[in-house]
Formats: sequence, C-alpha cells, structure tokens
Amino acid sequence: MPGFPTVRPRRLRRTETLRRLVRETSLSPDDFIYPLFVVHGSGVRQEIPSLPNNYHLSPDRLAAEVDALGHLGVPGVLLFGLPATKDEVGSEAYADDGIVQQAIRAIKQAAPEMLVVTDVCLCEYTSHGHCGLLAGTEVDNDRTLELLARTAVSHAAAGADVVAPSDMMDGRVAAIRRALDEEGFAHIPIMAYAAKYASAFYGPFRAAADSAPQFGDRRGYQMDPANVREALREVGLDVEEGADFVMVKPALAYLDVIARVRDRFDLPVVAYNVSGEYAMVQAAARQGWIDGRRTTLEILTAIKRAGADVIITYHAKEAARWLCEGS
Ligand code: PBG
Repeated sequence: MPGFPTVRPRRLRRTETLRRLVRETSLSPDDFIYPLFVVHGSGVRQEIPSLPNNYHLSPDRLAAEVDALGHLGVPGVLLFGLPATKDEVGSEAYADDGIVQQAIRAIKQAAPEMLVVTDVCLCEYTSHGHCGLLAGTEVDNDRTLELLARTAVSHAAAGADVVAPSDMMDGRVAAIRRALDEEGFAHIPIMAYAAKYASAFYGPFRAAADSAPQFGDRRGYQMDPANVREALREVGLDVEEGADFVMVKPALAYLDVIARVRDRFDLPVVAYNVSGEYAMVQAAARQGWIDGRRTTLEILTAIKRAGADVIITYHAKEAARWLCEGS
C-alpha cells in the first residue's frame, strides 16, 4: 500500500463541491422531531426561561406553531403537558380532557399530516414528581403499568400517531402494546425510550415541565450513565415487547450507546438531544463563546453519524431553517 506522497487525503477536501460529493452523513429537516410544552388556558405563548426560543403554548396557539413547523419541513412534534392539578396517581395524564389530549385534538384538526408523538409518563402529573405510583418511597413498577397503558390509550383515542413511554418501568412496552391492541389501536407504533439514563442533562426540562421529583432522584428506574451493555439489554427487551422505535437519551454524551444500538438492532433508532445539551449551546452562544449555528449543526450531524435515524431536538426549528438556507 503506497502512502504519502502518492496518497493525499486532502485532495478530496479542497473545494466545497468535492466535500459535498464525499460527505458521509447528511442532515435534513426530515430527521427532526420538535418537543412542545402545552399548558392550560388560551392565548398563552410564553418563552421558557431554561429553553430559550421554546415556548409554553396553550392549545389555541398550537395551530400556528405546527403550521410554521410544517413549512420548515419538520415532520413531527413530541408533546409534553403541564396539568392543571397534580395528585398522587397522576390523574390528568389519562384524563379524556387532559392537556395533552386537548393538544392532540387541536393539532390534528389544524394539521392532520403533522406527526403527533406523545410522551407517556406520570412525572409531570404526580404531586411527588416520580414517574410512577409510590409504595412508601419506592416507585411501584407493576402497579404503574396499568396507568401508563391507560395514558397511552387515551392519547391514541385523542388522535396521537405514536406513543413514547419515557418512564423506564420494566414491562411497560408490553403492557402498552397489549392495551392499545385491545382498544383497537393495533396500528399505533410505540417509540420506546429504551435506554434512558439518570442524567443531569434533564435539568432545564424539569424546570420547563415542573417535573422534578419532590424527594430522592430517578436512579432507581433510569439507567446508570456508566453502563452500555445494560443499554443493549434494555433495548433488546423493548424490541421483544413490541417496540417499533428504540430511543437513546440523552444523545451527546451517549454517542457510543447510539452506535452500539445501531450496530445490534435493525429498528429505527431515535436519539433525544435533551434540554441540557440545548441549553449549554444557547448559553455559550449568547456569551459569544461559540458559534451557535455551526455548533448546533455539528452536534446534530454527529448524532446522525453515530447512527440515529431520528433526532428529537429543541434545535429543530432553527436547524431546519439553516438547512433550507444552506449552511
Ligand atoms: C419524563 C421526561 C423527561 C424528559 C423527557 N421525558 C425528564 C425526566 O426523565 O426527568 C427529559 C427531556 C429533556 O431533558 O429534554 N420522564
């Protein structure tokens, strides 16, 4: 094998046209899902302090939001709700007129083609802020499953296209699949937050969704950041239970996990570029310490290169705009 000076990798980097020709990874608005935070009331469009350029929206403001997303070519949204009241059992999560159920109907009426994915979890709805029912100070896995299944069915009944359980209870994909099938929603896919880590990067989200646990933390159900073989086991179980997509979350500090999941499984792999990852870029860019646009596109490209097919990201709108303009 000849080396330098016969071989010169720089030849293929000399012009933008050459670089475009040999580029291995491309990013498109088609890859993105944009999270939305819905609140009760009307006329509400309030910027979220911990997530600049993202808003708390009331149902009547969703039509304009999804219209803008549609024009940018973003195919889907992921809904999170802030309930009117919280209780021990997270009642509004599975209420017919819950905030997410209202939001689904509003979006489907305004933009039927916009993909509506719903986060299925109890933490925004429980007074204690944990993702399931409590037994003492522990989260009771098996009693939680029924409520998660009810939540997923109520989202499907309101018109959701995909349900995305994020609670990390064991057996929830199977429980949700069974309930959806029994209620006539066999066609609704499950996007499982399969490898979700107990991460400090969720801080800005918890401020936005008012979902921080009132005592303790989530390490008894979310994964230890030190583990990757366990992630493959979690993903394998969710696939066996009937998941249609598998998710790794967060993304940026877990690119190795995304790559390993991509190698091992053939389902679509979703990466959640979480709130803390977004907030860090925003904060540094606002200080003038990094170029926000270049940093964002580099991060999203890296997540894709690692093996993600779909990226859930708070950058979706700006990134779609930049990609349309040509970066
Ligand atoms: C709900 C949920 C969380 C996120 C998505 N769904 C928070 C958590 O697990 O505490 C985090 C999203 C983000 O940080 O952007 N369980």
